[in-house]
Amino acid sequence: MIQRTLLIVKPDGVSRGLVGEVLKRVEAKGLRITRLRMVYPTRECIEKLYDIHKGKAFYEGLVKFMASGPIVAAVIEGEEAVKVVRNLIGPTNGREAPPGTIRGDFSLSIQENIVHAADSPERAEYEIETVFAPECGFY
Ligand code: CMP
Repeated sequence: MIQRTLLIVKPDGVSRGLVGEVLKRVEAKGLRITRLRMVYPTRECIEKLYDIHKGKAFYEGLVKFMASGPIVAAVIEGEEAVKVVRNLIGPTNGREAPPGTIRGDFSLSIQENIVHAADSPERAEYEIETVFAPECGFY
């Protein structure tokens, strides 16, 4: 089934110069990038994006980190894109993510883990609406 999902290169990925590397892997897999936006997000935009994590121990640090610099948001389309992109990025903890995944190859951190990807088609639509809204930020 053709799906679309949202992939975000986080502030650490952007500042480390990994935008091209991440998007290259998505395209090499055969998925299509159909929308792209670089945005320096407001705290409000990040709070909306991560509403499901509100109240968790890592939430405040996560919001500060995600609003600390520009991010690159990409809408990705293809066969089972939600699952395929999640597999490309690997598990949350960069120290445990297997080599060959984006996090496994580039991150040693749970928080600064280079990328985010939606975990369901419904979340993808919500997250796309959130980060592509003009009021998400500037750039
Ligand atoms: P992401 O896949 O974007 O989903 C939530 C984010 O919270 C996660 O990646 C990490 O960047 C961050 N985070 C920080 N600490 C934790 C933790 N202990 N467990 C899960 N996510 C964490």
